[in-house]
Amino acid sequence: MFWSNTYSVGHPELDEQHRQLIETYNLIVDKVESYDDQSHDPSEIMSQLKRFSQMTEQHFYSEESILAEVGYPALMAHQLLHLQHTDSLSSYNAAEMSRKEYRENLLEAIGNWFINHILMEDMEYKYFMQQGDSSPDSSA
Ligand SMILES: [Fe+2]
Ligand SMILES: [Fe+2]
Repeated sequence: MFWSNTYSVGHPELDEQHRQLIETYNLIVDKVESYDDQSHDPSEIMSQLKRFSQMTEQHFYSEESILAEVGYPALMAHQLLHLQHTDSLSSYNAAEMSRKEYRENLLEAIGNWFINHILMEDMEYKYFMQQGDSSPDSSA
């Protein structure tokens, strides 16, 4: 998965976090591939997954703080989506990693929700922030 301008939510800090999450997702993909090829060590996938979850939670916290600051009216609904994503990320377990189907589903599910979240759910605040008269970029 690669960063592209279509993913931009128009806020440099949040774009940068999304970009870093994509990089970390790619590291999970690497670990799954090396599991298949040689390592058969689920702890490598799990530790990358854990890192991704932590970064995701930090990102959600930043995003929610910024959205609260600009008075985003749909913040509660957005927080709920974040909670669901956090829940699903914590549901993966090492014992299942020996199943190829499980590993493939994991990559597909995380990749899909992430793209879906940035391109659809996060985009909704982009338009709000662009129309609003408050400028989130100018506040230190
Ligand atoms: Fe979000
Ligand atoms: Fe986001």
